[in-house]
Amino acid sequence: MKKVRKAVMPVAGMGTRFLPATKAIPKEMLPIVDVPTVQLNVEECVASGIEEIIFVTARGKGAIEDHFDRAADLEALLERKGRKEDLAALRRISAMARFVSVRQGEPRGLGHAVLCARDAVGDEPFAVLLGDDLFVGQPPGVAQLLGVYERQGVGVVGLQEVPVGQEHLYGIAGGERIDDGGFPSRSSPTLRVSKLIEKPAHGTAPSRMAIIGRYVLPPEIFAILERTPPGRGDEIQLTDGLATLCAEHGLCGIEMAGRRFDAGDRAGYVLAVLYHALKRTDIGADVRAGAERLLAESRAAK
Ligand code: UTP
Repeated sequence: MKKVRKAVMPVAGMGTRFLPATKAIPKEMLPIVDVPTVQLNVEECVASGIEEIIFVTARGKGAIEDHFDRAADLEALLERKGRKEDLAALRRISAMARFVSVRQGEPRGLGHAVLCARDAVGDEPFAVLLGDDLFVGQPPGVAQLLGVYERQGVGVVGLQEVPVGQEHLYGIAGGERIDDGGFPSRSSPTLRVSKLIEKPAHGTAPSRMAIIGRYVLPPEIFAILERTPPGRGDEIQLTDGLATLCAEHGLCGIEMAGRRFDAGDRAGYVLAVLYHALKRTDIGADVRAGAERLLAESRAAK
């Protein structure tokens, strides 16, 4: 079985849920404290053994490419000022992986964005991460999927259970639990997927298992996406392509162990910032004290 070396990150969407912040700034560059969302996802890939990141970008997304490039002038300035730690942190960003970008000329949907990476991926399996879905877990999110891929040899989607009544907001997977031997210490989180529906209408969801922006896919997905017609919202939906992949080649899901933040949603973004700020050794204590004061004040004001 070929090793998964590459990850595709579609970052070409317009980010309309986050206007006006995203009028001139890619939403994937919005900072989680002082680290852009997209960098946290790249770090997850690198910690999972991925060597190459393929960004699917669009007009106005140049800041993402600049962020992962060297910045000679900034490095020279930090060097002159003797700021060794800042300099090392800056250099580490561009050295983490190989970075490649391809363009999606029009935002024709996530499935189309993945298809744009076809030549850059080639004939090998690859991971896909959505720019605005953040995941904190151990093992890292992508590594959890890779384990299932290596044992089952089919595509894998990352899943988490969502609260009753929220199924219509997600791609939902139905199927049967299987014990793939990879999780001796917990009841099996692996699912053999038999059904996938993008944003099912109320009462029609096959389960509460939602796809959460992490995938490992075989290269066969490209030919499938090419013949997938536009679906919901007149966009080529990745979930529709995955449903065909599931029928023709099989597909697994893994209920991921860890915490997920939808950083493309306003409340999800604020919670992601708070979570990461509280964990920091430099500002965690101050943020905790300040947040507790604010909460007490807001309770008292009710
Ligand atoms: P979203 O639907 O969350 O992104 O897609 P969006 O369209 O930017 O968001 P809103 O709803 O307008 O706020 C998930 C990911 O897929 C990328 C986005 O950049 C995001 O990271 N995407 C989406 C593309 O690359 N191309 C597309 O055509 C659509």
